Amino acid sequence: MASSTESITWSAPSNIALVKYWGKLEGQVPCNPSVSLTLEKSRTHTTFSWAPKKDPGLGVELEFSFHGKSKPDFEAKIKKFLEGQLSSRPYLAQWRLVMESRNTFPHSAGIASSASSMAALGLGLTSLDWAHQKRTTPQSPAEYAQFWSEASELARAASGSACRSLFAKAALWGRHPEIEESSNLRAVPISVHKDFQNLKDAILIIDAGEKGISSRAGHGLMNGHPYAQARFERAKKHTSICLSALAHGDWESLAKVTEAEALDLHAMMLTSDPWYTLMRPNTLAAISKLVAWRETSKAQVCFTLDAGPNLHLIHTPGSHDALRDFIQNELTPLLQEGKWIDDEMGEGPLSWDSHSSPAHGGH
Ligand code: PMV
Repeated sequence: MASSTESITWSAPSNIALVKYWGKLEGQVPCNPSVSLTLEKSRTHTTFSWAPKKDPGLGVELEFSFHGKSKPDFEAKIKKFLEGQLSSRPYLAQWRLVMESRNTFPHSAGIASSASSMAALGLGLTSLDWAHQKRTTPQSPAEYAQFWSEASELARAASGSACRSLFAKAALWGRHPEIEESSNLRAVPISVHKDFQNLKDAILIIDAGEKGISSRAGHGLMNGHPYAQARFERAKKHTSICLSALAHGDWESLAKVTEAEALDLHAMMLTSDPWYTLMRPNTLAAISKLVAWRETSKAQVCFTLDAGPNLHLIHTPGSHDALRDFIQNELTPLLQEGKWIDDEMGEGPLSWDSHSSPAHGGH
């Protein structure tokens, strides 16, 4: 990134939570800490361009497109977010901003794109901050650490779990007594054992349709939920177990806590008022088949679920080939058009401008 650039592209990955964020307080503050793996292939690329406004007014001027087409609903959402930033970033009112965004995964893949797209937004806005307020770009590892931290905070403000997409391998979001630098306002990178540096995620597309109830509504239903306090306490304990399993390369603990978290999340939906479920019959059918196959194959694989019907099969590289064959031979009939995505842990965001090729910055 050079301070003279008038455009920058950020490629931000999605992430998959092992310990789930479910329930929030005012100001996008999580009710419990969460832990995620950063993905590699499921990404949003957003090019941010800025030029002085022709007609300088007080508001934000934004043009947003997705895969080359205007998206008025998304544009309005981002504009509202940027307007909320004007008091701390008055420079935003001087520019005409253009954001051109695209996902590397198909629109109908049933993968939530808010984590990667809002992480890209946080990064773009942080680049603008550095260019216009600090008049520099990060150079040293310490400056990069500061940059990622600021971008994570903005991504959180835009869409909670997006803040975890900023870091290589794995991240923790939410205050946790065992990790001094942990915060409710931004995510931090966490230590991952060498045997777990290349964990894989087979994303099984059970149903690619829009979900019936948004995450925002789901978080809201945790207010006054009969099991909310027990859930938040359990998530804190699960965070300790998950952090330790990731740091020590303890597969059994990681698999157990990951599945418990997925089931807790969906149990909260089943027991909220009104109740709902985002799982589909084929979600449960695939879980049953997986568990039976794991018994006999001894493969190191476990499942997790986002707020949707699709399964993420987290597994070690040593189990990858056997799992791929199992998915192709046994699970394909349960998947929408037989679709699945062969993803893995990644190195976090990439950026480039007209003068440079993609680079991971300070990672
Ligand atoms: O970041 P949101 O508001 O879309 O909520 C994400 C919630 C889960 O995906 C279900 C869990 C998580 O921690 O990612």
